Amino acid sequence: MGNLLKIGVLVSGNGTNLQAILDRCADGTLSAEIACVISNKAEAHALERARKQGIPTVHIDHRDFPGRAHYDAALVDTLRKHDVGLVVLAGFMRIITPVLIDAFPAAIMNIHPALLPAFPGLHAQRQALEYGVRITGCTVHFVDAGTDTGPIILQTAVAVDPEDTEDTLSAKIQLEEHRIYPQAIQLYADGRLKVEGRKVIISPLP
Ligand code: GRF
Repeated sequence: MGNLLKIGVLVSGNGTNLQAILDRCADGTLSAEIACVISNKAEAHALERARKQGIPTVHIDHRDFPGRAHYDAALVDTLRKHDVGLVVLAGFMRIITPVLIDAFPAAIMNIHPALLPAFPGLHAQRQALEYGVRITGCTVHFVDAGTDTGPIILQTAVAVDPEDTEDTLSAKIQLEEHRIYPQAIQLYADGRLKVEGRKVIISPLP
């Protein structure tokens, strides 16, 4: 048990993805341990979810820093203090800078509610509905300096029904998010992800 991957989860909101990861750690289907949960928002419900499980939580308010790079330096300090090996963005509503990205090379993941490279940025579900696509989904990817541009790890498709609203579509996508985010983290924990240029190679089980 001493060698469990230590994850630092960055959040700003509800934290249903955090909850899915917590649940998979608790039931043993994810061999990792959440070392800390960091939020830029004190009122994020995600912090409450972490506290309930006895996970250390840290509120680092972006408004206390003169700029993004300084804020990210504080994130790096806290992540290092908790000996984090993988940074997981789970509804973290901040743009991150090279200060954080370079501190954890190929070790920061994000989940996006669309099939990238379609519909990056905010309101991906609304973008999908407005475009009229029949299929959307979610993407787990490594984070690089762009917005939702990093190498793709896993994706799952979700059908768009004619009667879908932003809320119903988001709910369907979230079910898939909660399934594939822990899977992607497990692949990382097992050392099965290798980034080659734009691509992530998933090595087969030994
Ligand atoms: C998810 O839909 C994720 O795709 C996006 O932010 C949302 C976070 O939801 N990046 P939650 O806080 O995990 O419930």
